[in-house]
Amino acid sequence: MIRLGVNIDHVATLRQARRGDEPDPVAAAILATLGGADGITIHLREDRRHIQDRDARLLRPVVTTRLNLELAAVESIVEIALEILPEEATLVPERRQELTTEGGLDVVAHEKSLLSHVRRLQGAGIDVSLFIDPDPAQIDASHRLGATAVEFQTASYSEAKTAPERERQREKLALSARHAHERGLHVHMGHGLNYHNVQAIAALAHVEELNIGHSIISRAVLVGLERAVREMKAAIGSSDDKATR
Ligand code: PXP
Repeated sequence: MIRLGVNIDHVATLRQARRGDEPDPVAAAILATLGGADGITIHLREDRRHIQDRDARLLRPVVTTRLNLELAAVESIVEIALEILPEEATLVPERRQELTTEGGLDVVAHEKSLLSHVRRLQGAGIDVSLFIDPDPAQIDASHRLGATAVEFQTASYSEAKTAPERERQREKLALSARHAHERGLHVHMGHGLNYHNVQAIAALAHVEELNIGHSIISRAVLVGLERAVREMKAAIGSSDDKATR
């Protein structure tokens, strides 16, 4: 059975829009777990645009499945990972201007500088996953680094404009999954997966974990809206009762 890691960053994005205290990512993690999530994924970005240090610290004891902390390979964030001790750390590239993580980590170019981060995290008992493009050279470099897993960036598949292009990208992911598996790497995938395009990815051999955020949180907003409005009408109604008394 493939594990589903639910990325709850967008819950924090909504909270940070008002710099208030709702919606709370900790509550979201509990509800996602009740819904069957096999793990909770959060990205502690250097610019702290959504998840805050406090969230990561509070989520640690609350998440009793698997906590997957996505992070850039920078000293200050690695230090936080070593303090929090998630089950899994996924190293991702990070650019300040980007809307979300764009492209995979260039492990080939940064093999040397990544090595110490990978070793320190693994030394603390954390599984290290590298978020890479489905490319043989990146897989081989991840293998040389001794990564526990690779997470293939699925954006080229999920953003493909035509069916033949989507199929081409799916094939590339299938070949990459086999290549990584043959080298003893666990295979994860994520980015842009939704209720319509996930089946073809979940059907690929060797995939063990999918990390999905935007589509789940987007759907949660819509499926929850009717109830939320009813509850507000009821809250307003109860104040009407008082006014007429
Ligand atoms: N995996 C990684 C490494 C990511 O950076 C993200 C986005 O934060 C995801 C998975 C989830 O992508 P999406 O929000 O598009 O489902």
